[in-house]
Amino acid sequence: MKVWDRRFPSRDSNPDIEAFNQSIDVDSFLYADEITASLAYAEALHRASILDSAELKALESGLSAVKRRIEAGEDLSGYEDIHTAVELLLIEEIGEAGKKLHTGRSRNEQVVTDEKLYLKRRAPEIRDQLLGIQTNIIRLAERHHDAVMPGYTHLQQGQCVLFAHYIMALFWQVERGKSRLNDALNRLDTLPLGVGALGGSTVALDRRYIAERLGFSRVSENSMDTVADRGFILDLLFALAHLLLDIGRFAEDFILFSSQEFGYLSIDDSIATSSSLMPQKKNPDIFELIRASAGRPFAYASQLFIALKGLPMTYNKDLQEDKVPLFRGIEESVEVLKVFRHALTRIQPNPERMRTGLNPAVFATDLVDHLTERGMPFREAHGLVGEIVAYAENEGRLLDGLSPDELRSFSAFFEEKGSDIFDPDASVKRKKTEGSTHPIQVKKQIEKAKRCIQNA
Ligand code: ARG
Repeated sequence: MKVWDRRFPSRDSNPDIEAFNQSIDVDSFLYADEITASLAYAEALHRASILDSAELKALESGLSAVKRRIEAGEDLSGYEDIHTAVELLLIEEIGEAGKKLHTGRSRNEQVVTDEKLYLKRRAPEIRDQLLGIQTNIIRLAERHHDAVMPGYTHLQQGQCVLFAHYIMALFWQVERGKSRLNDALNRLDTLPLGVGALGGSTVALDRRYIAERLGFSRVSENSMDTVADRGFILDLLFALAHLLLDIGRFAEDFILFSSQEFGYLSIDDSIATSSSLMPQKKNPDIFELIRASAGRPFAYASQLFIALKGLPMTYNKDLQEDKVPLFRGIEESVEVLKVFRHALTRIQPNPERMRTGLNPAVFATDLVDHLTERGMPFREAHGLVGEIVAYAENEGRLLDGLSPDELRSFSAFFEEKGSDIFDPDASVKRKKTEGSTHPIQVKKQIEKAKRCIQNA
């Protein structure tokens, strides 16, 4: 059933062609937004004297009836898309008045209106997941505030850091992710309805009224831009892709850190899996899936990007290809966020293993600092400690096994008796800057993070 049937009186339809052209199997998820937008549009038509009060009433009850029918499982498969399905069902419900709903309206504007409404509607759920993730990160940081672990660069031990500092890094990544999402949502917050097929509407619609009715803060500025634009979906998918990218890197760390070789954390049985063959296995499948699925929103974004690339202004049917990236991109990303949020409550840091995991060479920078504090120029101290590290390595000994006298044979700048150079707790406390791993700075950081999520 089509709204344009009479255009081709003797069109003989081919099922493959019809199936290829339709979008109902991928856009019916927009039904509630289509009805919300249609109700506001009907009111605007009434205000523009296109509908009398009785017709408006009929449309309102008709649209509610259509909604109920769809929710009760109405078979929509025979319709071209969700827009025509709702309109034709409405006409079936209320007859003549239903035929006026489309006055001055185009599916080109309906589709973007529905999509924007949908994204605005899903946003709180995404924000809630992110807030949940951030809360769980803070909990982990606070619960293990004193744990010291090796901080890595190039996956080689670099310096001692607090576990709390390490895990809080993710908090700020998520915070920036929230900000990217908010930017995207703010940019898409313009009402499309009233732009018609591309040039505007011949009905004197009060677009500001419709915007207010639908919760848009502005009306779009240019009708051609409005029907051509799908950048708002790209923005959102890229924001999600970036979020999952950051989360996926931590998933990778958790996989590594829960291995026998590291043992810095263990994952709870409830999120672990085992092997069909090797009975001892405790596998971090959930984190592996999170790591892998981080690519999905990016794949959807590139799929849409490719569909958009080179399209002439304004609407082209290629744009119908935005449905799967939009819907699946949101659905699948929310699923990953949900799972990650829960999994964060099911990892158990092991401070003992983190501490014993510290190779004494990790204190090499501390040695350099020790010398510079006593007046040796940095470059000189750095070179000298390099020599000392090589000496210990050649001797097959650990850096902290060298006696004060041995150290003093390299330089009189070394203290005569032992110092706290090789003490992990002292090492993190030697950091002085804001944003560093010094325990006081990390506490401040956590307080700031708490304020961030309280104000969200
Ligand atoms: N199903 C279409 C889509 O998703 C709706 C807009 C169709 N407009 C048109 N003139 N064919 O893009």
